[in-house]
Amino acid sequence: MNPSSLEIVILAAGQGTRMRSKLPKVLHQLAGKPLLEHLANTAEKLHPKNIFVVYGHAGEKVRSELAHLPVQWVAQTELLGTGHALAQAMPGINKNSRVLVLVGDIPLISVETLQKLTQEITSKEVGVVVTTLPDPSGLGRILRDEKKQVIGIVEEKDATPEQKKISEINTGIFLANANYFQRWLPEIKNQNAQKEFYLTDVITFAVNENITIKTIQAACAEEVQGINDRAQLAQLERYFQQQQTQQLMRAGVTLHDPNRFDLRGELICATDVTIDVNVVIEGKVVIGENSYIGANCILRNVTLGKNVEIKPFTLIENAMIDDHCVIGPFARIRPETKLAQNVHVGNFVEIKKSEVGVGSKINHLSYVGDATIGSKVNIGAGTITCNYDGVNKHRTVIADNVFVGSNTSLIAPIAVGENATIGAGSAVKKQVPADALTLERSEQRTINGWQRPKKKEEK
Ligand code: UD1
Ligand code: CA
Repeated sequence: MNPSSLEIVILAAGQGTRMRSKLPKVLHQLAGKPLLEHLANTAEKLHPKNIFVVYGHAGEKVRSELAHLPVQWVAQTELLGTGHALAQAMPGINKNSRVLVLVGDIPLISVETLQKLTQEITSKEVGVVVTTLPDPSGLGRILRDEKKQVIGIVEEKDATPEQKKISEINTGIFLANANYFQRWLPEIKNQNAQKEFYLTDVITFAVNENITIKTIQAACAEEVQGINDRAQLAQLERYFQQQQTQQLMRAGVTLHDPNRFDLRGELICATDVTIDVNVVIEGKVVIGENSYIGANCILRNVTLGKNVEIKPFTLIENAMIDDHCVIGPFARIRPETKLAQNVHVGNFVEIKKSEVGVGSKINHLSYVGDATIGSKVNIGAGTITCNYDGVNKHRTVIADNVFVGSNTSLIAPIAVGENATIGAGSAVKKQVPADALTLERSEQRTINGWQRPKKKEEK
């Protein structure tokens, strides 16, 4: 089959009432990504000519939030059923192409199952992805004749008590030639319990024309699990996380407890990376060989080098951390930070938009923002770069080998020369010269014989 002749339509106009949310259902996130984006990404892997998304409920929000997706947006202004939804996309589809219909609230359908569908169904046939469930309630049932040929799909609400006992269900994922849909969709009637135009009625038309209906079994129940409420969303989230942790462990990552780890994005690990419990990884994170992430850390869009140790309760965002750095516990590394090799950042240190040179140490209770720090610098406990004057941000530049005493305020813009020492407790706002001790501190006084005040006598 020529893959360019494949068109994919994602039906996503439904309301998602049972989510009890102001957010349209397809924008709810699974592993940090909207449901619709999961589907669109899967659809892309089949290299279709177009991906159409039929949107309706709170549609403008869906479109604007997902404007980056390579899809064609098709509005369904009245929600009249799945058959009506697909019909909205048909004008943009060539009659000779094949149409794969995906369901907006079934986010984890696999590329493998869809490939099987496109490979096994010929252009003369109609394909449906099905599965068998212990509890099929609420779903459309597959009707077969005595030769096991599919002869129809009946919705739960239209089913007889006998039909309700059928456990084989319609996932809603269909494949057929565009000309079939063009012929049948306008013929669908809404004479059913829900007064909707059911896409599933195309099966009846196919049967009437002696067109073979072939079913493809889903590889597992989860890939065709629909999300109707938040409990189902949470179930699928766990399933998805398990898939990811299995993959990471197979690739050689040690997870102290795969059930207490969340990946919302992409994680690339070199050999012998160890991750302790309750770590959350978001965006794109790369971790070098032998690095260790302690318990309760959050890493978002971070690149870590080799032999890095991130101690517990550390949050790092949009930063580059080079080899042999040691960070935390309780450190916060904010965007646009670059730490060179062997930098040590200790507890209750916040670093923002700063570069720190090789071997420098900021070990306790400091704020470093908008700074460039050289190599082998020691920043004492409680040091603050005063980078904000209430209106503008200013930079602090510290050369190599500087020693900043504890509780120093560096009032930016300021530059500290190489090898300088700043005495503890100083508030410096003039340039600090190289190779000298600079301090800004009043003389220490002692008052001999001074009496402490006494507590007043109570009446
Ligand atoms: C549908 C199937 C049912 C199947 C089930 C599997 C029909 C008639 N029924 O039922 O056989 O077992 O899916 O999940 O097709 N949508 C629109 N516009 C509409 C109506 C729906 O875009 O007017 C979209 C929804 O956003 C959703 C999908 O189509 O993504 C399925 O619609 P939904 O209402 O959930 O159908 P079900 O009743 O679940
Ligand atoms: Ca549904």
